Amino acid sequence: MKRPIKAALVFGATSAIATAYCRILASRGAVLHLVGRDHDALQNLAGDLDLRGATKVSVAVADLCDTEQHKKLVTEGWESLGEPDLALLAHATLGSQSEGETDWKQQRTLIQTNLISPLSLLTLLANRFEQQHSGCLAAISSVAGDRGRPSNYIYGATKAGLSCYLGGLQHRLAATGVRVLDLRLGPVDTPMTAGLSKGLLWSTPERVAHAMDGKLARHHGTVYLPAYWRPIMGVVRVLPDILVQRLGI
Ligand SMILES: NC(=O)c1ccc[n+]([C@@H]2O[C@H](COP(=O)([O-])OP(=O)(O)OC[C@H]3O[C@@H](n4cnc5c(N)ncnc54)[C@H](OP(=O)(O)O)[C@@H]3O)[C@@H](O)[C@H]2O)c1
Repeated sequence: MKRPIKAALVFGATSAIATAYCRILASRGAVLHLVGRDHDALQNLAGDLDLRGATKVSVAVADLCDTEQHKKLVTEGWESLGEPDLALLAHATLGSQSEGETDWKQQRTLIQTNLISPLSLLTLLANRFEQQHSGCLAAISSVAGDRGRPSNYIYGATKAGLSCYLGGLQHRLAATGVRVLDLRLGPVDTPMTAGLSKGLLWSTPERVAHAMDGKLARHHGTVYLPAYWRPIMGVVRVLPDILVQRLGI
């Protein structure tokens, strides 16, 4: 059964995709608690969501790589929302594959932002939702994690780790009434991908947010967005190694 999301805790709320999704929730009068590291961008977003019809918007400013802050941030989220219907993790960084190949520090930043930070938050959030016996715990992963490819295996490795963790969490919480979603996105035109050339398979934040909305209310498990990425990645996963190397994908 489809259950409306009335109270949502969003980490990395100023991301283009999270912003587009928060706007959908705001237009339905949801209560939102937004976490991000850019104070001004968060305040602007809160004002925007207010105008679009949100019942209440609160914000918390934090660098989400600082895992020492996570317990406080999660507690504040529950204090602000009561019992949230949803916690969404959207923060990440793409980095540069070519620079990362010779720069361990850059790889480490990617691992801290895209993997260590989400896993720390998921640990706390899973336990809160488990005690609550309801809610949806979702994180934005990527099709890049489905197969190690020369074009993006550093970013892809962080998302593969995240997806694996979400898969395990989903099974752990299956009997508790808590839904866990691995939102596995294909490429989307956002600030993260500003430097990349776009093609036919690219999507927009609004289109992906609309598709996310349908899934977050009632689904669990792995969801490919847009849906055409499921069959595409089914093929990519079984491509012979020699073809992956020749195509340089
Ligand atoms: N765009 C794509 O093609 C694509 C494809 C698959 C999956 N995804 C995933 O979708 C999610 C949203 O990305 P997007 O495309 O919407 O990109 P985006 O607009 O660039 O958003 C990335 C967000 O992450 C935040 N962030 C990064 N490091 C942070 C930190 N240490 N602490 C707090 N916030 C931090 C950024 O904050 P600042 O603005 O302050 O830097 C920004 O709000 C990410 O998980 C991304 O991996 C994107």
